[in-house]
Amino acid sequence: MKQYLVPYRIRLGAQWTMVLLNVVAGLSIPPMVGAAIDGPITNGDLVGLWRYAGVVAALGALDALLSLTRRYFQTTTAMAIEADIRDVVYGHLQRLHTGFHDRWQTGQLLSRVTTDLGMIRRFFAGGMVFLIMSTFMITLILAQLLWIEWRLALVVAASAVPLFLLGRGFFKNFLPAARAEQDQSGEVSSVAEESALGIRAVKALGRGPLMAARFGKEAAHLRDLGIRKSYIASRSWSAFDAIASASLGTTLILGSIMVANGGLSLGQLSAFIMLQLGMLWPIEAAGWVLAHGNEAMTAADRIYEVLDTEPAIRDRPGARARDRSAIRGALAFEGVEFAYDDDDRKTLRGVDLAVKPGETLAIAGKTGSGKTTLVSLPSRLNDPTGGRITLDGTDIRDIRLDSLRRAVTTAFEEATLFSMSVRENLALGRPDADEHDLLEALRVAQAEFVHDLPYGLDTRIGEQGLSLSGGQRQRLALARAVVVRPAVLVLDDPLSALDVHTEELVERALEQVLQDTTALIVVHRPSTVALADRVALLHEGRIAAVGRHSELMESSPDYVEVLSAESEEVAA
Ligand SMILES: Nc1ncnc2c1ncn2[C@@H]1O[C@H](COP(=O)(O)OP(=O)(O)OP(=O)(O)O)[C@@H](O)[C@H]1O
Ligand SMILES: [Mg+2]
Repeated sequence: MKQYLVPYRIRLGAQWTMVLLNVVAGLSIPPMVGAAIDGPITNGDLVGLWRYAGVVAALGALDALLSLTRRYFQTTTAMAIEADIRDVVYGHLQRLHTGFHDRWQTGQLLSRVTTDLGMIRRFFAGGMVFLIMSTFMITLILAQLLWIEWRLALVVAASAVPLFLLGRGFFKNFLPAARAEQDQSGEVSSVAEESALGIRAVKALGRGPLMAARFGKEAAHLRDLGIRKSYIASRSWSAFDAIASASLGTTLILGSIMVANGGLSLGQLSAFIMLQLGMLWPIEAAGWVLAHGNEAMTAADRIYEVLDTEPAIRDRPGARARDRSAIRGALAFEGVEFAYDDDDRKTLRGVDLAVKPGETLAIAGKTGSGKTTLVSLPSRLNDPTGGRITLDGTDIRDIRLDSLRRAVTTAFEEATLFSMSVRENLALGRPDADEHDLLEALRVAQAEFVHDLPYGLDTRIGEQGLSLSGGQRQRLALARAVVVRPAVLVLDDPLSALDVHTEELVERALEQVLQDTTALIVVHRPSTVALADRVALLHEGRIAAVGRHSELMESSPDYVEVLSAESEEVAA
């Protein structure tokens, strides 16, 4: 955590000074009261009493003021820490490889960046400060107690033994209970998030009650875990209070005997008891803090699990930036192999393909043959597990990722739009695009429907763009890719949701764009193939045939089958 604390050094300094002054001011009150009882009160000295009362009141006011400033520093520092860690985690999530996000449930990630970070903040804001403050107070109080009457003080100190044993038992049970609760809270978020995203499927399949039952089960489990944790905590607290009260009772009895025998003054006993009562709070706070400190530690563990995952795809040492204008766009796959992490089967086996600058290559193949996987490689959403891919002869791993991704743009089948305006969505890949670029891209993608939206280009798209139709979303996503004017444009079945007529319009407009762009287009329909100079047929992860559409229609029965099967599907 240290690295996050550095910028707060000054604030922390101020905070700790406040803590120190706060404690000293608070603890100087009981001896003053004791002295007042033994002095002016016993002697009936009214003027002297007023003097004491004035000092005590001033100390009380100072204590309150210091406590206010301390809290201010405490809270603001902790908020800043939380915000910074959250930025670090978010930035890290962005750099992680898509495979990580396939494996991790979104809900787990969400609960880590929200709940867990909140716990860490609470620890910094309250916990850590209280812990140190408590230790300091307990030491000071004990010193004062020893000074007033050492034998009584030893009796008080003896209660530390059962408290320690109690504390040890508590943490042994509490820690696993807290971790279980935090993990389960991630599960609940996951289920909630999945059903929110999949609400259409849930309703259409009539599975509402089933999903509700599933959610109910997870939520009930979370409740049980929460109750168990609270039970462990409250059981310990009660024992804690019992020990503290017993110790206070002992002091009262022994102290009264001492006062009766003349070994202790009434003022001293009062100060002693005030101090002992004053110790309850720090002891309790220390326990509370240790408990929350543990939660914060588990939370930190859970966050580190994310932060410790190294981005699998990153710049190689010595990777160079490439200027977009210097890229011609010759793309080549050389003996490319690929297997997903959790799979021993190879999805791609020895793919060799060369696309000339400006050429459009279509990829056809049965469903599951590896087309999406293949086209995820040139922009390094995945790295080949064997072989290499080159852009203008350079291994793409030797090109800096940021410049590679500016040069190679991919539009996917599922068009994900973000909850921002149409304009912002379009300019995502090229923030400096001007109005003309955007309008041109909208024209190419036949997405001029945006002009009819309530606020035109400034209309905000609902969460995940759900308020648009599938075809509308697809056309916007296509426009977004076109805006970038990349050297290599990769389209994974970008027209699948369009009707035949619109598809034809998009194709005609795309043709112009494709003229001076290298393109890799996954196609399913014979009509889209017309866009391509050549077609590659992918079969079970291998390139089975490459050639012009007309050649393949003659020479490859598989090709004919793939395209005709797909077109029948469309017709049906
Ligand atoms: N994220 C993933 N993790 C593990 N396996 C995957 C993943 N994505 C795809 N696969 C597997 O890789 C194989 C190829 O999938 P891919 O999506 O590339 O096929 P496709 O040709 O694009 O199919 P379609 O025409 O249906 O889009 C399939 O067997 C699939 O199960
Ligand atoms: Mg696919």
